[in-house]
Amino acid sequence: MNRVFIKTYGCQMNERDSEAVAALLRARGYRIVQDESACDVMLLNTCSVRDMAEQKAIGKAANVAARKKRNPRFVLGILGCMAQNRGAALLDALPDVDLIVGTQKFHQVPDYLDNLRAAQEAGAPIGSTIVDIAEEAGSQNTIRDHVLEEKQVTAFVSIQQGCNMDCAFCIVPKTRGDERSRPMDEIVRECEELADRGVREITLLGQIVTSYGRRDYVHTAGVTPFVQLLERVNAIPGLRRIRFTSPHPRGFKDDLIQAYGRLEKLCEYVHLPMQSGSDRILRAMNRPYTRERYRQIVDDLRRVRPDMYFSTDIIVGFPGETEEDFAQTRELFEACNYDMAYVFKYSIRSGTPAAGLADQVPETVKEERNQILLRILEANSARRNATLLGTTQEVLVEGPDKKGRGFMGRTRGNRIVHFDAAERLIGELVPVKITRASTAVLYGSLALAGVGC
Ligand code: SAH
Ligand code: F3S
Repeated sequence: MNRVFIKTYGCQMNERDSEAVAALLRARGYRIVQDESACDVMLLNTCSVRDMAEQKAIGKAANVAARKKRNPRFVLGILGCMAQNRGAALLDALPDVDLIVGTQKFHQVPDYLDNLRAAQEAGAPIGSTIVDIAEEAGSQNTIRDHVLEEKQVTAFVSIQQGCNMDCAFCIVPKTRGDERSRPMDEIVRECEELADRGVREITLLGQIVTSYGRRDYVHTAGVTPFVQLLERVNAIPGLRRIRFTSPHPRGFKDDLIQAYGRLEKLCEYVHLPMQSGSDRILRAMNRPYTRERYRQIVDDLRRVRPDMYFSTDIIVGFPGETEEDFAQTRELFEACNYDMAYVFKYSIRSGTPAAGLADQVPETVKEERNQILLRILEANSARRNATLLGTTQEVLVEGPDKKGRGFMGRTRGNRIVHFDAAERLIGELVPVKITRASTAVLYGSLALAGVGC
């Protein structure tokens, strides 16, 4: 009765939280299984950022609840953002859920499962739910355990939880709570341990990583705590690459821009959420920058690293977004020439400042605007990949590709490359000559005499 299947919805933070829960459960004697039909416990780690994400998890939970009818000992748990957002009210729609655990209580999951099992074994009446969505001081320090696959080359490290920005559309400050950073020494130690275990690339994670440690550490000679952290991770011998997500445009002061010129492991890939290219909408969203300032950051970064790759988040159809506002977004989107972008249709999140705004944009208009940006993105991405044809790129070999044909890795610019390699090259940085490109993916061959397969 100890096989646990964890299904994760949403962002990389959620993936990381699920991994930490899995590590804790393993240490407690549970088995983490990949086959949901062969589990005794199913945990859904949920997302609330758009309504669609919540509906997906609710649909799944309702489906799985049927399984409980056949096997009353089957345990169903809902974790993370939707658990935090809706709490015990979830039971109205999903009365059969056994466990509801919020975003500051992931580390309690093993205890709660133990308790549920003990109660079952003692013959307690089935159907009492454990709900814990309380805040907990220091909970940001509990996301630290990893489940590493054999020869795992990349890993995510949580550096901070929560966000204090209050963007008008965003539920995250409610689901994730106040900004809380982990101590820098602990993060560095975790990165060192990962490097010792063979990890070569680390992505530092948080809701607003550029604000990391701002209340806990002082600036030294104009260098923010976040850049101090980057410097320390950059100095870890076994690591080869550093990435981070998500930053906020207002964190791109000179120290961070210059870091791209001097920290050799910091990859020339930036996820820089724009949200909108209209100053009027940015103000309504409570995003503290203008389109001009945003463009300036992109230009500054390209000056330091002419080969910089960019991705972004855009929301189309924020309440009151006119054709003219969207034209501004479209223009800035084209000008920035993104390599990758996440384009979202605005979704009303109850409890956020924007939820009550008049002038909601019709779905059909959102869809149209969404498609327009996606078409531009596709063209940009294809164009960028075409420029890489015939070049030799530094690729970190991650492992066999999922379809079992050869190996896959990524360039520093985060482009996926497929190529033939050998098992022993996993974890190595190798030169790959790009021979073919689709819109999204590159294909190539090892360009190093003597290391072929
Ligand atoms: N800083 C965070 C943002 C989390 S939300 C991070 O990336 O870690 C991720 C993205 O979802 C946001 O950048 C925004 O573009 C989008 N988003 C947030 N709330 C939304 C809403 N109500 N409707 C549509 N998209 C939304
Ligand atoms: Fe959300 Fe804005 Fe923070 S998008 S996570 S409130 S920076």
